[in-house]
Amino acid sequence: MEPIQEKKKKKKKKIPVSSAFFLWAFLFWGTLTGTSKANTISSSTNQQKLDRITALPGQPPVSFKQFSGYVTVNEQHGRALFYWLTEALADADTKPLVLWLNGGPGCSSIAYGASEEIGPFRVNKTGSSLYLNKYSWNREANILFLESPAGVGFSYTNTSSDLKDSGDERTAQDALTFVIKWMSRFPQYRYRDFYITGESYAGHYVPQLAKKIHDYNRHSKEPIIDLKGFLVGNAVTDNHYDSIGTVMYWWSHSMISDTTYRSILSHCNFTHVDNSPGCDKALEYAMNHEFGDVDQYSIYTPSCTSVSANATRHHRLKKTLIRRRAYGYDPCTENYAEKYYNRPDVQKAMHANLTGIPYKWTACSDVLIKHWKDSQFSMLPTYKELIAAGLRIWVFSGDTDSVVPVTATRFSLSHLGLSAKTRWYPWYSSGQVGGWTEVYHGLTFATVRGAGHEVPLFQPRRAFQLFKSFLTVPNQPIRMSEIIPREKLVEKQKYFQSIHKHTYLKGPLDKVTSVVIPLALATTCGFMIARGIYNMSHGIGKKE
Ligand SMILES: *[C@@H]1O[C@H](CO)[C@@H](O)[C@H](O)[C@H]1NC(C)=O
Ligand SMILES: *[C@@H]1O[C@H](CO)[C@@H](O)[C@H](O)[C@H]1NC(C)=O
Ligand SMILES: *[C@@H]1O[C@H](CO)[C@@H](O)[C@H](O)[C@H]1NC(C)=O
Ligand SMILES: *[C@@H]1O[C@H](CO)[C@@H](O)[C@H](O)[C@H]1NC(C)=O
Ligand SMILES: *[C@@H]1O[C@H](CO)[C@@H](O)[C@H](O)[C@H]1NC(C)=O
Repeated sequence: MEPIQEKKKKKKKKIPVSSAFFLWAFLFWGTLTGTSKANTISSSTNQQKLDRITALPGQPPVSFKQFSGYVTVNEQHGRALFYWLTEALADADTKPLVLWLNGGPGCSSIAYGASEEIGPFRVNKTGSSLYLNKYSWNREANILFLESPAGVGFSYTNTSSDLKDSGDERTAQDALTFVIKWMSRFPQYRYRDFYITGESYAGHYVPQLAKKIHDYNRHSKEPIIDLKGFLVGNAVTDNHYDSIGTVMYWWSHSMISDTTYRSILSHCNFTHVDNSPGCDKALEYAMNHEFGDVDQYSIYTPSCTSVSANATRHHRLKKTLIRRRAYGYDPCTENYAEKYYNRPDVQKAMHANLTGIPYKWTACSDVLIKHWKDSQFSMLPTYKELIAAGLRIWVFSGDTDSVVPVTATRFSLSHLGLSAKTRWYPWYSSGQVGGWTEVYHGLTFATVRGAGHEVPLFQPRRAFQLFKSFLTVPNQPIRMSEIIPREKLVEKQKYFQSIHKHTYLKGPLDKVTSVVIPLALATTCGFMIARGIYNMSHGIGKKE
């Protein structure tokens, strides 16, 4: 889920038109012949049976079906992607199909999405058993977790150089091939309502795959993938606007000093690929001298300290346990996943690692992150295209994340220039404000209050409510679980507006802020901040 960790931005790899057409034609031909040959169908349903998971080690009894296994996406290189389908609790035959992707690039949807966010199971501390997640998204849909690209988790390649030249384009192409081939293994999901979801760097993967599918469908006589829309959270969207919004978040949440704020804004040109020495220095100062050991993915909860030095482990763990109760969330969860998914009996039950992958299963792949090649500078043009195509698009943001913060997303989205359909308002969950939302023509934006980078981990109930609204109330404001009387709202708003007037900052800081706005109006790049954040956060054990 780490955003951007690219060393250098490379030019987007261009596939020549003729070879792109060839590739498309090949895939299309494959699908057509697949549908027409009865023996291919029966071999796919056989494969489906082989992929069925009877039970995972330490799993509580469940009523839904699970499948997992490999789909080869490139025979020449020997690239195969690993998936895990957890079907809906009820009415799996009619409920939509939802694909979930984590980011990184290089992080696993099984480590994060499935095991600590939206999946049906959580891994217990010792990695010895699983327990149920009350707010699992498979209450509403069939959830398909994909470890993408090859090199992530159990997904592998037989051509080791693939690990060092992965990028956005191949990831999207392989994911498209996966969806097409997976649907011939699971023909019951053809023509089913299909949504793509994900977070963080999947802010690239999700719209990119949506575009691939959209283009593929346009060339199909009878599209089998019924793509309806996508949903992304704390999503990397536009390097330039995201970067400015991130610095603003640091300052407005008192993570950095006024001096550093000014210094970053005056030295960093976020349209540049490489940082100037002055910019690097300002960023390093912020991270090394001002941030402290805060969990940058969730600035108000404790960071995972139990994996550090053994001498202090017990003391720290105890503290963590006390806090865990208070926050209802355990900052060390991905360590438990690493224990569990490396167990040979677990891998056997999941039909994973059949070829003896020469390295351990990890939540994130350092090799992929380090060598990531092409990365689209801005997703905004893709958003424009997909909005025009009429897809249902929702963007949400946990507002305590400082890695891809809510201000970054709002800066970026504001450049789509969409007009509001339903003005900004609070949405409620269990009688409390769950967050705020605004519905635009073409896109719905919602914040999730008190949630960090992995929204469903920190606020499972709110996240679930959001997901349910996304599926059931197309392009409408989030359903309120409790309707607050309008007069009461107006009264509250008046009160806050009057406070706002009196406390509005004036003077020098305002001036600095005004520098930001014109900068934001320029177009182009800025990968450096997130890269810096990534380096920092890897130093303290929290990946993703
Ligand atoms: C990768 O190589 C192994 C061992 O030769 C083989 O069994 C497997 O099928 C290959 N994977 C793909 C996707 O071709
Ligand atoms: C994890 O599961 C094992 C086996 O079921 C159990 O003995 C242990 O108490 C569990 N630990 C936690 C923290 O739930
Ligand atoms: C930032 O960099 C871009 C590209 O190199 C350049 O065109 C632009 O003038 C720079 N902006 C500032 C404010 O220095
Ligand atoms: C942790 O344990 C190892 C070996 O048991 C020991 O060498 C090391 O000094 C310990 N670390 C600390 C910080 O005590
Ligand atoms: C795959 O299995 C081998 C043992 O055959 C093990 O050493 C390796 O860590 C496993 N890799 C993954 C990614 O699970």
